Amino acid sequence: MSPTSPSSEHDSARDDYREHIVKEIAGADGDVGYAIAIGSPSWQEFERIGQLEVALLTQYGLLDCGLLVDVGCGSGRLAVSLPMSFSGRYVGTDISQPLLEQASRLVNGPSFRFVHVNGLAIPLEDGSADMISMFSLLTHLRHEESFLYLREAVRVLRSGGRIIFSFLDFSQESHWSIFSDTVAAVESRVLHHVNQFMSRDAVLAWARMLNCGVIDIHDGQSRFIRWAQPDGTVSWDSIGQSVAVLEKP
Ligand SMILES: C[S@@+](CC[C@H](N)C(=O)[O-])C[C@H]1O[C@@H](n2cnc3c(N)ncnc32)[C@H](O)[C@@H]1O
Repeated sequence: MSPTSPSSEHDSARDDYREHIVKEIAGADGDVGYAIAIGSPSWQEFERIGQLEVALLTQYGLLDCGLLVDVGCGSGRLAVSLPMSFSGRYVGTDISQPLLEQASRLVNGPSFRFVHVNGLAIPLEDGSADMISMFSLLTHLRHEESFLYLREAVRVLRSGGRIIFSFLDFSQESHWSIFSDTVAAVESRVLHHVNQFMSRDAVLAWARMLNCGVIDIHDGQSRFIRWAQPDGTVSWDSIGQSVAVLEKP
């Protein structure tokens, strides 16, 4: 079965997630609903996480990228934070049309494109991207789907290109409250979407199976992102989730 035609069980999980997003958007006024729908409780937090995502990509070569692909781009949290010094093109993909519309309202210009997808496809040519980001995406997919998405990302990357993805990590004490909340939601049958955890062993095994190098795996709990703010101050921070950086040989 191709990644673009997954089983109906996975289709239905995606429909549940889309429905969850629509409810979150409707639950708050204006832009805030679109921030809440992707996990940022406020506009300030939306901006902060977007800037940290960009700072992290910058550590791995963002400013030399001709094409950055942001899979599961949501409402434009990363795109809106890209600096003027980023001279490449940006393609964001997502399964949610309302989030993509919001992203296009926030960011537009000839270098930006937002594309609706269904399933696990990245609708771009083989070897066309320099960098592919997947922030808080694999956290909502089943392991088999995550692996298929990573395989699709490897197809789209050029040789030497990088995949940077975040994940909920069994080894991180700070992630366990999410696990407990998810258990409670499953128990009381109010779960709206998957919260998937992963182990480092899985990341290493998948990288081997995909014939990719592992550049880094960062603990979500450690402050591994160098964040240079517009006023010149530099601090070290984290986006909360652990992060893996893979490279296509
Ligand atoms: C928690 S949000 C993160 C958004 C964005 N990556 C960020 O960090 O701001 C997860 C996003 O993944 C999207 N998503 C879920 N399944 C997807 C799939 N199969 N393909 C593309 N996007 C998907 C959701 O619609 C949502 O926008």
